[in-house]
Amino acid sequence: MEKEALSVVDQRTQATCEIPIHDGIIRAMDLRQIKTGPDDSGLMTYDPAFLNTASCRSSITFIDGDKGILRYRGYPIEQLAEKCTFLEVSYLILFGELPAEPELKDWVDQITHHTMLHETTKKFLEGFRYNAHPMGMLTSTVAALSTVYPESRNVLDPQVRALQIKRLIGKMPTIAAYTYRHSLGFPYVYPDNDLSYTENFMHMLWKMVEPKYQVNPILARALDILFILHADHEQNCSANAMRAVGSSQADPFLCTAAACAALSGPLHGGANEEVLRMLDVIGSVDKVPAYVQKVKAGEFKLMGFGHRIYKHYDPRASIIKWAADKVFEVTGRNPKLDIALALERIALEDEYFIKRKLYPNVDFYSGIMYQAMGFKPEMFTVLFAIPRTVGWLAQWQEMLCDAEQKIARPRQVYTGQAARDVVPMERRSVTAALATA
Ligand code: CMC
Repeated sequence: MEKEALSVVDQRTQATCEIPIHDGIIRAMDLRQIKTGPDDSGLMTYDPAFLNTASCRSSITFIDGDKGILRYRGYPIEQLAEKCTFLEVSYLILFGELPAEPELKDWVDQITHHTMLHETTKKFLEGFRYNAHPMGMLTSTVAALSTVYPESRNVLDPQVRALQIKRLIGKMPTIAAYTYRHSLGFPYVYPDNDLSYTENFMHMLWKMVEPKYQVNPILARALDILFILHADHEQNCSANAMRAVGSSQADPFLCTAAACAALSGPLHGGANEEVLRMLDVIGSVDKVPAYVQKVKAGEFKLMGFGHRIYKHYDPRASIIKWAADKVFEVTGRNPKLDIALALERIALEDEYFIKRKLYPNVDFYSGIMYQAMGFKPEMFTVLFAIPRTVGWLAQWQEMLCDAEQKIARPRQVYTGQAARDVVPMERRSVTAALATA
């Protein structure tokens, strides 16, 4: 095979060099050799928001954004959503292979026995105001777990890591359910080990005085499918936060809290909550065209539309649409669905959206389904965080075991003042720097 390389001529010096190409990439460090003189530290790349920079090698999730393909460990998302449970998929994402029956049984058993929260953590949750946002409560409580399990800081010990991974996957639904109960002023419900992962979550959310909460199996399966769809999505903003914070060897509870914080933003996992607010603002199908005009005029974005990687229909959005139909058969149709469908139809026919390849993403239909199931919009991003914890942990573990990784520390292009001396107070003039900052 011919040598794969990039030949570069530096027009500043007329020097030439060859940059090797492997797997379709060049290494940014190979550009350092391109210098104008001995004092030059070498050429850097500039890539705000990582538009064209791979920060790691990963074997977890594959996305082809142009074709609308998503695979975990090689398996198409459509097959996993149809044939597997969330905990089965979690095993796959974390360990690379689908579990055999005894392996799955053991895995489910281990996760199920890590669902309880320490009583002091329960009391910690009680300290939040009645109207605290569930994502803020979740993020803080996950961080607080770091104090309950101080041994978790031994991140280079595989056995310690394995235990924290099980703890986090087991406890996320419990914390999430407690944030919900807290916001309503309801007593917390302890986990029920007889139930599946999603059934137990629904039990902790909605059990009142009945001796045994009866979970609707169709709703539990729909939630399980949504958990599968949200479990990982390669190097998105929150996975990148998880890896960046984890690269300092902080413990996994603190790293997961950082990832939760990243997820909470409206451009990332917070978009599902914003979609519902947007549908409320639009109000009715006849107002959709006027709303789309405002989006095109740049007044605001269409929430639940667009994606950095997908330039095609997000494959998760199609599966969610299907799952939502199953949910509506039980709960009745969410009237907001008509507005969403009209919005999608008009947007997909419009030149603005076609030109920019903007399609519905995972957040467009999930909120409508969650609302029909009885979740408040404030809980939607929490519902995203529970399954994504699996992906974050897989990314974290992969990063720690990757010999090429070091503490994440990007470079910068300094654009500030040149060196200057401090002027005594009496000789300084008013710059109003604070007011204009
Ligand atoms: N509505 C209207 N215009 C949009 C939208 C949108 N939702 N998304 C992108 N555009 C326009 C954008 O204004 C820009 O136009 P122009 O070229 O004229 O300046 C062009 O499309 C390219 O957009 P971009 O902002 O450069 O794209 P990005 O890759 O930086 O952003 C995104 C991706 C997901 C942040 C963005 O599409 C967005 O803000 N969408 C709405 C929020 C949302 O639904 N987020 C959930 C993402 S999926 C789940 C997840 O990962 O959490």
